[in-house]
Amino acid sequence: MSDMGSHHFPAARPLPVSENETEGSTNRGTASKRSEGHKIGEVIEIAGSGSKIVMDSAVLTKLLDHPDATVKMAGQVGSQVKIRVGQTWLLANIRTQRLYEGQAGLVIAEIDFLGEGDEEQLTGHIYNFRRGVTRYPTPASLVYAVTTADLKQVYASDGRANVEIGTVYPTDDIRGALYVDALLGKHFALLGSTGTGKSTSAALILHKICDLAPEGHIIMIDPHGEYSAAFKENGKLFDVNNLNLPYWLMNFREHCEVFVQSRGDAKQMDCDILAKCLLAAKAKSQASSHVAKLTVDSPVPYLLSDLTSILQNEMGKLDKSTNSAPYQRLKTKIDEIKADPRYSFMFSGMLVGDTMAAFLSKIFRLPSEGKPISIIDVSAMPSEITPTVVSVLSRLVFDYAIWARNEPQRPMLLVCEEAHRYIPNDDVAEESSVRDILSRIAKEGRKYGVSLGLITQRPSDLAEGVLSQCGTILSMRLNNDRDQAFVKAAMPEGARGFLDSIPALRNREVICCGEGVAIPIRVSLDTLAEERRPASEDPIFSDLWREHGGEDEIIQRVIKRWRAQGR
Ligand SMILES: Nc1ncnc2c1ncn2[C@@H]1O[C@H](COP(=O)(O)OP(=O)(O)O)[C@@H](O)[C@H]1O
Ligand SMILES: [Mg+2]
Repeated sequence: MSDMGSHHFPAARPLPVSENETEGSTNRGTASKRSEGHKIGEVIEIAGSGSKIVMDSAVLTKLLDHPDATVKMAGQVGSQVKIRVGQTWLLANIRTQRLYEGQAGLVIAEIDFLGEGDEEQLTGHIYNFRRGVTRYPTPASLVYAVTTADLKQVYASDGRANVEIGTVYPTDDIRGALYVDALLGKHFALLGSTGTGKSTSAALILHKICDLAPEGHIIMIDPHGEYSAAFKENGKLFDVNNLNLPYWLMNFREHCEVFVQSRGDAKQMDCDILAKCLLAAKAKSQASSHVAKLTVDSPVPYLLSDLTSILQNEMGKLDKSTNSAPYQRLKTKIDEIKADPRYSFMFSGMLVGDTMAAFLSKIFRLPSEGKPISIIDVSAMPSEITPTVVSVLSRLVFDYAIWARNEPQRPMLLVCEEAHRYIPNDDVAEESSVRDILSRIAKEGRKYGVSLGLITQRPSDLAEGVLSQCGTILSMRLNNDRDQAFVKAAMPEGARGFLDSIPALRNREVICCGEGVAIPIRVSLDTLAEERRPASEDPIFSDLWREHGGEDEIIQRVIKRWRAQGR
């Protein structure tokens, strides 16, 4: 690789840029009548790791006055250029820019190839664009500014199902779309600092998908209770009042997370005892009589009172020298949870019947009945149990998909807000069942038709490797360097040119790259109708702090709900 700063640099001669920028000008003395567009430079190096072009800054400056917003951007980092190779156009993204030291007025840029298209003979525009490059240019190939007309062709739907989410930067009329099957087929991540518009974007994308797929199956984990407001029309809303998640759907590990409080050696002892007594309680239940191979993980109803009385019995059988504390600890904890009204959404005496079919049917929207999305508001649950609840729900999705392999396929999408809470990396949290199941879905889910949508403001706190499992990355503004570095590592090469703009994006702007888009795009998202927005409106202090009145009643109502643990 040559050192670009050295005097050997081959392009240290005036560029063959024509003064005449009009369409149809002849070029290179050939008899071609092809229209040339705006020549801005030439290729100087083609290398696997990154190719380079040199551009004439005088030409770029001149284009700044061009009426076409795309041409105006020519040469800027994150914008595209086209390169002629025979009858085809290569499209490339500009990743970096720097001044060529050897000769004033020249700019060297690193580029990433995005794909190629054919040349429309009359206009010179790109058409029939496809990803990937079959034939690379050679040094001295000419580089042209991309026009809005070119981009229209590039973004034109190739017939695949897609949802339009906004307008492609810098144009004001090209629609940016996501290819639904590619987006969902390989998981997606939606990233951005708080307030950049993540939740609203998620609602926007999910609404568009629901409009397209009224018989879909989407499960949204909503830690802040924001989304119920957005999906009143087309979603089923669940919270502590109507979720009715049967405790016996927990597997053994999840049981331990809820019932076992001790740490270290004592923890192992408690878990062993719980395993033995839980299996006995399950064996005792009616529902298990048809189950051939009953295990501690089998999702069959059992009575909590059976479990506690078995613990009591076992304790009675111990000889004097054996420590009965583990039995006592477990029994006390189970009785405590049974009696605690905050846990009744999961541990109520009403949940002992075999409601598994009804529960799966309502949560997975099987059938959807025009409401393809379940919003599961976990905000009012005791915080110590939410990770386990999310684990149970995610695992049910995955296990269902595995056991439904021979059935008519019903792919599902699991969307997880504040994903860093549930799939944290080792530095942030210790191991948990929810982290394991979500990591597993990230790795294996698509084989079984389970798609994951992860939303987070802290991509750097996500477990290792999870982001790279996401085929599509939708990044809004990220203010923190560490987060930017993580996103950078997960972004496909063609999108590197956009990296520098991540800290500089405006609210409601998103960079989309990966499987879900034809080429990486920066999109200004559409305004979402108010009734479809999540209830995440930021408080306006300057207004609200001028209001008063009714405080006594407000406090009374709040205390009442607080004590009743219900809304
Ligand atoms: N596409 C949009 N249409 C309408 N309002 C939006 C849009 N995107 C963001 N907003 C507004 O911006 C604010 C913050 O958005 P929000 O989605 O809550 O951000 P985040 O989840 O990243 O914290 C909200 O008040 C929301 O109404
Ligand atoms: Mg949010």
